[in-house]
Amino acid sequence: MHDSRETFVRHAFVTGYPVKHSRSPLIHGYWLKSLGLQGSYTRQEVSPEDFAGFISRLKSGESGFVGGNVTIPHKETAFSLADRPDALSEELGASNTLWLEDGRLHATNTDGLGFLANLDAAAPGWDNTARAVILGAGGASRAIIQAVRDRGIGEIHVVNRTVGRAQELADRFGQKVHAHAMGALREVSAGAGLFVNTTSLGMDGEAVPDFDFSPMAEGAVVTDIVYVPLVTPILRQAAEQGFATVDGLGMLLHQAVPGFEKWFGIRPTVDAELRQLILADM
Ligand code: ATR
Repeated sequence: MHDSRETFVRHAFVTGYPVKHSRSPLIHGYWLKSLGLQGSYTRQEVSPEDFAGFISRLKSGESGFVGGNVTIPHKETAFSLADRPDALSEELGASNTLWLEDGRLHATNTDGLGFLANLDAAAPGWDNTARAVILGAGGASRAIIQAVRDRGIGEIHVVNRTVGRAQELADRFGQKVHAHAMGALREVSAGAGLFVNTTSLGMDGEAVPDFDFSPMAEGAVVTDIVYVPLVTPILRQAAEQGFATVDGLGMLLHQAVPGFEKWFGIRPTVDAELRQLILADM
C-alpha cells in the first residue's frame, strides 16, 4: 500500500518582479534532484498590482503551491499579507520565505540565518569579537544587523553614504547599533573582528575606493554579500592586506535551506557540488 504522504508532490515558487535573474530555482532544483524528490520549484513573475491576488490564491490552495520565496519588490508586502509572520520578520518588516501550515500562511526571513551559516562554515570562530562594522543601510543590512546582534556581538557600527539611513537602523535596533558617515570608516574599524559589505559597491566591475582594513583586529574576517564577481574588489583588498575573507555565495545557498525544509520536509545540505553549479551559471 502506498502512503499518500509519500506520493504527494509538492510545488514551491520564487516570486519577484522581475524574477528571471533569481538563482533560487537552480538551488532548489539541485536539491530536489539529488534527494530524489518529485516536487517542483518555479519562477513566478508577479507585478506589484497582482501580488495580493497571488497571495490570496496561495492561501486558498487554488494555486497548488505549499509555499515559496519572495524577492524584490515583494518582501514587505509578503510580510504584511502573511497570517503568521515570525519574530524575525516582524522586526525586519519583511519576509523572504512563506509556507502554508494548518491552513495559515506563515512567513520568516532567512537572510540573517544564511549570513550566519555561511560565516560559521567558512570562518568558524568569527563571532569571537565584540565589534562588527557593517557598510550599507538597506534591506540586506537590516537582516545582517539583526543576525549579528542575535549572535551576541556587543557593538555594531553601521557606516553608510546616507548617514540618515544608518541612523534609522540604529534607532530601530537600539543601543548596540551605532550610525556613522563614510568618513568614520577607518576610525570605527579599530579593533573590529568583522567587516561586512552590504552595498552594491564593486558589483559588475564598478570601481571602488581604497579601503584600509589595517585598524581591524588581528584575525578579523571581511565578508561581502555581493557574489558577482565572487572575489569583489573589497574582498580582494582585504586579502591583500592579510585578512581572512568570506565570499557571499554561501549566504545565498544557506538562506535557501530553511524554505526547502519547510516545503519538502527534508533539510538539504550546502555542498561543494551545489556551489560549483551556481558558479558555472555566473
Ligand atoms: P538592499 O536592500 O539590497 O540592501 P538598498 O536598500 O538599495 O539595497 O541599499 C543599498 C545600499 O548600498 C545603501 O546602503 C546605499 O547607500 P545609500 O543609503 O547612501 O543609498 C549603498 N550604496 C549603493 N551604491 C553605493 C555607492 N556607490 N557608494 C556607497 N554606498 C552605496
